[in-house]
Amino acid sequence: MRILAIETSCDETAVSVLDIEGGESAAQFKVLGNALLSQIDIHKEYGGVFPALAKREHAKNLVPILESALGEAHLLMSQSTEPSPELRTNLEELLSREVGLSDNLFNFLQRYDVPKIDAIAVTHGPGLEPALWVGVNFAKALALAWQKPLIGVNHMEGHLLSALAEGMDDLSSFEIRETAFPLLGLLISGGHTELVAASDWLSYELVGQTRDDAVGEAYDKVARMLGLEYPGGPLVSRLADQARDAGVPLLVSRLPRPMISDATCDFSFSGLKTAVLYLVKDRDLSDEEKGQIAREFEDAVAEVLWKKTARAIDETDAQTLALGGGVSANANIRRVFTERIAAEYPHVALRIPKAAFTTDNAIMIGIAAFYRALRNEYADPESLAANGNLSLT
Ligand code: KG4
Ligand code: ZN
Repeated sequence: MRILAIETSCDETAVSVLDIEGGESAAQFKVLGNALLSQIDIHKEYGGVFPALAKREHAKNLVPILESALGEAHLLMSQSTEPSPELRTNLEELLSREVGLSDNLFNFLQRYDVPKIDAIAVTHGPGLEPALWVGVNFAKALALAWQKPLIGVNHMEGHLLSALAEGMDDLSSFEIRETAFPLLGLLISGGHTELVAASDWLSYELVGQTRDDAVGEAYDKVARMLGLEYPGGPLVSRLADQARDAGVPLLVSRLPRPMISDATCDFSFSGLKTAVLYLVKDRDLSDEEKGQIAREFEDAVAEVLWKKTARAIDETDAQTLALGGGVSANANIRRVFTERIAAEYPHVALRIPKAAFTTDNAIMIGIAAFYRALRNEYADPESLAANGNLSLT
């Protein structure tokens, strides 16, 4: 099965083409094409992702990104003369509809033959709704013009299932082998912190979630307090790692570990963030002090994440633990989870995506789409809608 996947939920415009063989018990994935454009430099000056700007950039960049991904996959064939009568009819039909068709997409569709793909997948939530709509409308237009089935993908499911990819050296190919259920997913990103249990493929139940800030959000806010740029997660992490390597002594005042011993699998990070704020307020911090704070913050985050995850493993009898989302790139969290699982739950298979594969991309959207397609879960192009708060459960 060949899937074209599109991702525009936040500040990355991404398109991938995957060729997939196999089924739920074992599947081999070849990445035929993968193109991604990050808008981070544009959003940096706003200290966060600015939705209207994200929307504009996605709209501007989707056609070139699509062209690049299909070109890399050798699936871009110029029309020998002019659009086939069938394509022409589809395009006329498309023009008569409200799918927000841009001139550059229409020109693109006229220029190339219908590519040899089996389905078009697109993230329809969660994320920034104006940004999501650009991708959804784009995918709908392609589905109509090319008469291909459409698959709506939950972004968090993409993060979760991409953790299962094995044998990935350079993003060009990988496989997902037999997976032991129940599976527990810890999804940690800029917008989400949740523990999700799956009793089988694609059937999810929410086990715990943050009651206030997401972990990535806490990282980004602490970064700002320490005078670091957006997105601050990787920079806080680097500062903390440097402090660890240099043997900088621990901070005298321990930061709180919010909700660590309560009887739920829920999280809270706003108190931790406020505690950092009190530490840095009205003070001119030395680099060493910043490193100490970053390290203590990381230790507090990893300890809370681990404790709640361990509780969720006990509650769900999980056999596999998958980490996903941008924050799962964090070296300290990866280290803590690897050590703790080996020491306390050696029977649980820990799956963490390659660090380069934790940030938003379209390959993970293609992976999730494949499992949806196996179950014939296609979307109706008339009714597929972007939903900023789309839930997995
Ligand atoms: O999944 P993602 O790319 O976008 C969302 O769907 O939110 O996650 C982005 C978040 C940001 O908050 C960023 O600061 C954080 O992931 N992040 C990290 C690291 N790399 C990215 N946080 C901590 N350590 C990292 N190495
Ligand atoms: Zn994400």
